[in-house]
Amino acid sequence: MYFYILNNINIIGMRNINLQIQIEEYDHISELNDTDKELLEKAWSACDSAYAPYSKFNVGAAVLLENGKIVSGNNQENAAYPSGLCAERVAMYYASAHYPGVPMKAIAVAVKSDEVPLEEPASPCGSCRQVMAEYENLYHTKMRIILGSPHTKIQILKGISSLLPLTFYAEGLKK
Ligand code: THU
Repeated sequence: MYFYILNNINIIGMRNINLQIQIEEYDHISELNDTDKELLEKAWSACDSAYAPYSKFNVGAAVLLENGKIVSGNNQENAAYPSGLCAERVAMYYASAHYPGVPMKAIAVAVKSDEVPLEEPASPCGSCRQVMAEYENLYHTKMRIILGSPHTKIQILKGISSLLPLTFYAEGLKK
């Protein structure tokens, strides 16, 4: 009986919330505007200097800063696997270390691999999404997130909330 009542309250008080995300999709890199194309090309070439001897999954990332500079990075692996770092975070941390206070406007992410078939754009891992959210929140900006390569379709998202809804921000730490 007790359970029945609890259940009832739950059903009456429940709300369904549907979240929508918007993705701009292009069949080929040649369809992108010049800025997006340059950023994705930089991410693509950054794949070449990735240190990924274990996964053989070379990821490159390029970050466009508000001051017009582009910084790139790639994944750095380690024999102690968890010590490695993703391309996106290498690039964003480099940007933040060298250009503190300069907002990040966009990030492009590409993957090259001789071993893994890459038909779809690679999507950033959860930790990299969290780091994008941190810098968006810090600078009160939305990052343009460009995913793909010259050999896949391209997906563009406007802001991390599309990739990481219900985000945890610093405000959640305040007493
Ligand atoms: N990797 C990235 O660089 N970015 C991601 O968003 C996902 C995964 C790297 C980490 C590791 O070096 C390799 O890809 C395989 O997971």
